[in-house]
Amino acid sequence: MKVLLLGVTGNVGSRLLPALLLHKHQVVAYVRTPSKISPEATSKLESIVTGSASDSAAIKAAILSQNCDAIVNAAGVAAVTCLNSQGEFQAIFAAVVQAALDAGRERGRAPIRCWFMSGFGVLDSPKKDHPVLDYMPLFPAHKPNYLLIKSHPVDILAWSLFCASNMTPKYDTPHFPPPADVSANNLVAKADSPPAWVDNLRSVPLIGTHLNVMSQGQSYYAVLEDCVDFIAADLEKGLESEWIGKRVGVKEKSKVK
Ligand SMILES: NC(=O)c1ccc[n+]([C@@H]2O[C@H](COP(=O)([O-])OP(=O)(O)OC[C@H]3O[C@@H](n4cnc5c(N)ncnc54)[C@H](OP(=O)(O)O)[C@@H]3O)[C@@H](O)[C@H]2O)c1
Repeated sequence: MKVLLLGVTGNVGSRLLPALLLHKHQVVAYVRTPSKISPEATSKLESIVTGSASDSAAIKAAILSQNCDAIVNAAGVAAVTCLNSQGEFQAIFAAVVQAALDAGRERGRAPIRCWFMSGFGVLDSPKKDHPVLDYMPLFPAHKPNYLLIKSHPVDILAWSLFCASNMTPKYDTPHFPPPADVSANNLVAKADSPPAWVDNLRSVPLIGTHLNVMSQGQSYYAVLEDCVDFIAADLEKGLESEWIGKRVGVKEKSKVK
């Protein structure tokens, strides 16, 4: 696919680029400061569009002028708690959603395929109708983002939310191509709730679910390079992906008991 990548100068986005190339995608970078892209990464890009990730009209114009079929949004950073400044994260999410909707509508073909970086907290907890965030109130902006995106039918916006917990890079810098020991095959994935959940402390009176979520949450960190390979591999399936309209939880296979 031809992918518009937002956030290529960041932790996640810089590693998404080699993963996308490995899976034979063409990549257009949408950045606010093109000089921050490394010369090696610049040489691998189809093109670079300069703009702010909170400028919906400019993102839409980039999708249409570059003829992109997909977007991966890794721009902006979610604040850890509601006590921290929330910054532009939600505005960026909303702008990218709006741009994808408008571009899809204007082009009048299939919906744009979109992956958004979200968080572990929006996955369902073992207690129905309560997301993990209700027990572990971290990264609160992911919840309104989820409510926004799920209000759009998938035949208009072919979205997926990537809901890893902490993602840790295995290598200090992006590698072209990615090292052979990082792969989506190192992960288990599940739609809408955390995979391989062990419900061991739930029977503790009153605080059982809290304890269960807090203790389990720590085991859901994932290797960043495995995560970006997951997204890049999935984009090969285009609109046939089983993850469209889903929140996607992942866990390293090595952490599954
Ligand atoms: N790292 C994790 O463990 C983790 C876990 C779960 C979810 N996530 C999510 O993954 C996403 C990316 O995280 P990260 O660790 O890669 O963050 P990061 O290293 O701080 O990168 C953020 C990126 O967003 C770009 N950006 C910010 N505001 C922008 C704007 N107005 N216009 C254009 N670009 C803008 C930055 O560009 P500049 O270089 O120009 O500043 C940078 O490329 C975030 O949504 C984060 O919440 C991360």
